Amino acid sequence: MNICINDKIFTIISEVASGESAEAYVIGGWVRDCLLDRNHPEKDIDIVVTGSGIELARKTADKINPRIRVSVFRNFGTAMFRWGDYEIEFVGARKESYRSGSRKPLVEDGTLEDDQRRRDFTINALAISLNKDTYGQLLDPFGGMDDLRKKIIRTPLDPGMTFSDDPLRMIRAVRFATQLRFTVEEKTFKALSENAARIRIVSAERIIAEINKIMMCNKPSVGFRLLEKSGLLAIIFPELDNLKGVEKKDGRAHKDNFLHSLEVLDNIALNTDNLWLRWAALLHDIAKPLTKKYTRETGWSFHGHEYRGSKMIPDIFRRLKLPLNEHMRYVQKLVDLHLRPIVLSQEEITDSAIRRLLFEAGDDIDDLMLLCEADITSKNEKRKMKHLENFAIVREKLREIEEKDAIRNFQPPVTGEEIISTFGIKPGKSVGIIKNAIRDAILDGIIPNEHKAARDLMLRKGRELGLTPLENDPGA
Ligand code: CTP
Repeated sequence: MNICINDKIFTIISEVASGESAEAYVIGGWVRDCLLDRNHPEKDIDIVVTGSGIELARKTADKINPRIRVSVFRNFGTAMFRWGDYEIEFVGARKESYRSGSRKPLVEDGTLEDDQRRRDFTINALAISLNKDTYGQLLDPFGGMDDLRKKIIRTPLDPGMTFSDDPLRMIRAVRFATQLRFTVEEKTFKALSENAARIRIVSAERIIAEINKIMMCNKPSVGFRLLEKSGLLAIIFPELDNLKGVEKKDGRAHKDNFLHSLEVLDNIALNTDNLWLRWAALLHDIAKPLTKKYTRETGWSFHGHEYRGSKMIPDIFRRLKLPLNEHMRYVQKLVDLHLRPIVLSQEEITDSAIRRLLFEAGDDIDDLMLLCEADITSKNEKRKMKHLENFAIVREKLREIEEKDAIRNFQPPVTGEEIISTFGIKPGKSVGIIKNAIRDAILDGIIPNEHKAARDLMLRKGRELGLTPLENDPGA
C-alpha cells in the first residue's frame, strides 16, 4: 500500500465509496507533498470522485460523526468538511473548459483521467486509488512521477491550453518552482511569456495569495526573477519591474535596484518569517526611479527615496489587495526609516540622534536593524564588515540609551489633559506647543524622561506663552 494513504481517513472514505459504488481517489497537493516527503502544517486533502463528490462527502462525514458540518458549493460540484487537523474536499471528476475572456467554466461529468488532464501541473495531477481492488495504486497518466524526480514543472496538456483555462496557473508555476526549487520546463515557460497578458482577467486577490506564498519561500528572489523574465511582473507589479536596469554616465554606473532589492529580500528571509518585514525589504527602494539624479560633482543620487517610497505604499497595497491596516503602516514606517541607522553609523553617534530613532521606530526598532543589515549587499567584503561593525555599535548604543531613558514606548510624562487643567485652557495650539517642547527636550537629553522635570518645563513654557497656572491646580 502507498504510504501516502496510511491515515485512517482514507480507509473510511474507501469503505463509504465502495458501499456507494463510486470510485474515489486522493489527488493534488497531498499526493505531491507526500511523495516529496514534504511536511505540511495544514492537512488539506483533495478527493476526486467519479460520481457525486457532494454525496460522498456527506456520507463520509456522517459515518465519522453525524454532527460534522459539511459545506456544499453546488455551483462547483464540491463539498468539504473538517475533521481534527484535516480539511477534506470532495469533487466530482470533471471535464472542464473555459471560454476565452471569462473565468466561468463549462463543466461536464468526466473520468478520473479527464479530471487529471484539466489540472495545472503533472506533479499535481498524481492520484492514488482508494478503491477496494486497486487500493494504494498510483495513477499517473501524464508522467508526474518522472517530473517529480527530474524536478520539473510541466502542464499535462499543451501549456497554452492549461493556462488559458485559468491564467493564475502561470503564477502558480512560478510559485511551485520557487517553493520546491524545481525548473519550469521550457515549453511551459515559453507559454508563460506568450500568455502573460491573460493574467489581467484574474482577480488581484487570487494573485496576491500566490505572491505571498512566493514571499514566504526560503529564496523568494527565484520567483521574482521568473516573474520578471516571463513578462508577468511588468503587468502585475510595474513599480517593482521599473527598478530594473543600470544607467551609466561619464563612466559611472548605479547599481541595478531590482537585483539589489531581491538580494535584500533573500537576506532578510534568512532571518525572519515575518511576511511584512519581507515586504518592507522588497519595497525599501521602490521610489528610486522617481528620485534618480545625476550630477558631475556628486554622481548618482536618490535623495528622499525613503520618504517618497513610504508614500507610494498605500497605492501599491490598495492595488495588490494587500491589507490597508497596521501591517501597511509598519511597512511604510520601515521604508521611511531604512536609511536612518546607516546615516547614524557613518557619523559621530549622538545620544539625541539615537533617542529620536528609538522614538520614531518604537517597538519596530529591532526589525529596522534587521532590514538595515540585510540592505548591505556590497560585494566588497571589507566594506561589508565595516558596515556590520558600525551597526553593531549602533545596536549597542540603542540598547544603552533605551535602558537609561526608556524611549521605545515613549509616553509623554505630562499629558495634554494635565496641561489643560493646569492652565485652565481649552484644547488648542498652546497645548501642542508645550507637548512638543517637552518631547524635544527629552529626546535632546535636556531634561530626563520624568514627570517632575517635564512639569517644570511645562510651567516655564506656559509662562512664555502668557499662560498662568490656576490657583487651585492640584499639581502646583
Ligand atoms: N488546481 C488546478 N488549478 C488551479 C488551482 C488548483 O489545477 N488554478 C488543482 C491542482 O491539482 C492542485 C489542487 O487543485 O494540486 C489543489 O489546489 P491548491 O490547494 O491550491 O494547491 P495544492 O496543490 O494543494 O498546493 P498548496 O497546498 O501548496 O497550495
